[in-house]
Amino acid sequence: MKLDRYNKPITPVIDIILHNKKEDMVIVEVGVWQGETSVYYIPIAQQFTKNIYLVDWFRGNPEERTHAPIGDDPHKYDEAQHDTRKGVLIENLREIGATATILDEDSVEAAQRFSHKSIDFCFIDANHSYGGVKRDINAYLPRMKPGGIIAGHDYDKSGQPEVVQAVNEIFGENNIIILRDHNNPQLVWSYKVE
Ligand SMILES: C[S@@+](CC[C@H](N)C(=O)[O-])C[C@H]1O[C@@H](n2cnc3c(N)ncnc32)[C@H](O)[C@@H]1O
Repeated sequence: MKLDRYNKPITPVIDIILHNKKEDMVIVEVGVWQGETSVYYIPIAQQFTKNIYLVDWFRGNPEERTHAPIGDDPHKYDEAQHDTRKGVLIENLREIGATATILDEDSVEAAQRFSHKSIDFCFIDANHSYGGVKRDINAYLPRMKPGGIIAGHDYDKSGQPEVVQAVNEIFGENNIIILRDHNNPQLVWSYKVE
């Protein structure tokens, strides 16, 4: 299995799925990369659901500041890398016998495939710019079931201030829960939809 050397699975994603698991749960990961987190939660989740959707355009992030050293950004925007990046994800999924559905398109276009109030858990980890995070939350929030969880990566005031600003503006700082990761210093924000 080929995994990104900078990433280990984002453990709150696994925790949220385990705490909210139910038959036919609809799970959407927005921004999947090569499946560094997906390959850990899918074997658990597919014991109770087939509704696992992985959204990525496999071009990288146009505006993201990542955690990689400068000049060595594995997520950098590069359309020419589409087939290679997607191929690695497919191979990683094949190795774990995953039955997930890949949606290879822009995150907001992919959101249109889901009916309103149809998603139980959505994890947002695509474009980390202020506009990108807002765009994704606004696209997926109406598609969340009441009681569902929408969450996202890199709630980091110093490293990713645009993520924090976008999340706080939409939900209010006091209305989100911040989850720690057992592997990574980056925090996860989470909001229970009413
Ligand atoms: C930080 S990586 C995702 C990491 C992954 N969640 C993990 O746990 O390893 C961000 C991904 O978002 C994708 N992405 C960025 N902007 C996007 C967009 N507008 N639509 C679809 N995918 C996008 C990139 O191609 C990249 O693979």
